[in-house]
Amino acid sequence: MPSPVLAALAVLGCLVAGAGCKSATAQPAPAPAAAGAARTSIPFDHSLHAGRNAIPCLACHTSADKSPVAGIPSVRRCIGCHRFVASDKAPIKALAQLYKDGQAPSWPRVYDLPDHVYFSHRMHIRAGLDCSKCHGNVAAMSKVTRVSPMKMGWCMTCHKQRGASTECITCHK
Ligand code: HEC
Ligand code: HEC
Ligand code: HEC
Ligand code: HEC
Ligand code: HEC
Repeated sequence: MPSPVLAALAVLGCLVAGAGCKSATAQPAPAPAAAGAARTSIPFDHSLHAGRNAIPCLACHTSADKSPVAGIPSVRRCIGCHRFVASDKAPIKALAQLYKDGQAPSWPRVYDLPDHVYFSHRMHIRAGLDCSKCHGNVAAMSKVTRVSPMKMGWCMTCHKQRGASTECITCHK
C-alpha cells in the first residue's frame, strides 16, 4: 500500500479516536506556577500600530514568512519602540514594569485550529497571499476579531481555486 494511504488511515484513526488521540501526544499540563497571579493584560490596538502608524505586519509577526506560526512579538520588541514612544502613558508604564520584572503580557488567542489540523503560514505567505485574505483588514481593528471560522470547507475552496493540494495528509499529518 502506498504510504500516503497509510498516513491518511492513521489520520482518520486519529480523528475517530478524537480526544484520545490528542492526549496520546499531549504534554502533561504545566505546573500552575502562575496560578493565582493572573498575567497582566496590556491593551493592544492594531488600528494604532498597523493602521495609523503603518507598521508592517511582518515587523511584529516576524516568523510568518519563515515558519508555521506567525508569532506574537516579545515584550522586548514592544519596548524597543516604547522606550521612546508614549513612554509617559499608563499602559506603557505597565508594559515597562512587566519588562523589568521579566514577564510578558498575555493575550487571549483569537484563531486556534484543532490539534489534528496542520497549518503553516510560511507556504501561504510565500505563495503571495496577503494576511487580509484570511484575517480580514486587521489594520482597521482595535481588537482582532475572527472574520472566518476557518472550517475545512473554507481551506478546501481556496485550495481548489489555486490548485493547491486537497489530499487529506496535507492538512492531517
Ligand atoms: C515599531 C514601533 C512599535 C512597536 C514595536 C510597538 N509599538 Fe505600541 N505604539 C507605537 C506607536 C507609534 C504608537 C502610537 C502613538 C500615538 O499615535 O499616539 C503606539 C501606541 C501604543 C499604545 C497606546 C499608548 C497610549 O497612547 O495610551 C499601547 C498600549 C501600545 N502601543 C502597546 C504596544 C505593545 C504591547 C507592543 C508590543 C506587542 C507595542 N506597542 C509595540 C509604536 C510601536
Ligand atoms: C506593533 C506590533 C504588531 C503589528 C505591527 C501587527 N501586529 Fe498583529 N498582533 C500583535 C500583538 C501584540 C497581538 C496579540 C494581541 C492581540 O490579539 O491583539 C497580535 C495579534 C494578531 C492576530 C491574532 C492572533 C491570534 O490570537 O490568533 C492576528 C490575526 C494579527 N495580529 C494579524 C496582524 C496583521 C494582519 C497585521 C498587519 C496588518 C498585524 N497583525 C500587525 C502585534 C502586532
Ligand atoms: C491562508 C490563510 C492565512 C494567511 C494568508 C495568514 N494567516 Fe495567520 N492564521 C491562519 C490560521 C489558519 C491560523 C490559526 C493557526 C492554528 O491555530 O494553528 C492563523 C493564526 C495566526 C496568528 C496566531 C498564531 C500564530 O501563528 O502566531 C497570527 C499572529 C497570525 N495568524 C498572523 C498572520 C499574519 C501577520 C499574516 C500575514 C503575514 C497571516 N497571519 C496570514 C491563516 C492565515
Ligand atoms: C486564500 C487561499 C488559501 C486558504 C484560505 C488556505 N490555503 Fe492552504 N494553501 C494555499 C496555497 C496557494 C497553497 C500552495 C502553496 C504552494 O505550494 O506554493 C497552500 C498550501 C497549503 C499547505 C501545504 C504547505 C506546506 O507547508 O507543505 C497546507 C498544509 C495548507 N495549505 C493548509 C491549509 C489549511 C489547514 C487551511 C485552512 C485553515 C488553508 N490551507 C487555507 C492557499 C490557501
Ligand atoms: C486544506 C486543508 C484540509 C484538507 C486537505 C483536509 N482537511 Fe479535514 N479539516 C481541515 C480543517 C481546518 C479542519 C478543522 C475545522 C473543521 O472541523 O472544519 C478539518 C477537520 C476534519 C475532520 C473533523 C471534522 C469535525 O467535525 O471535527 C475530519 C473527519 C476531516 N477533516 C477529514 C478529512 C479528510 C478525510 C480529508 C481528505 C479527503 C481532509 N479532511 C482533508 C482541513 C483540511
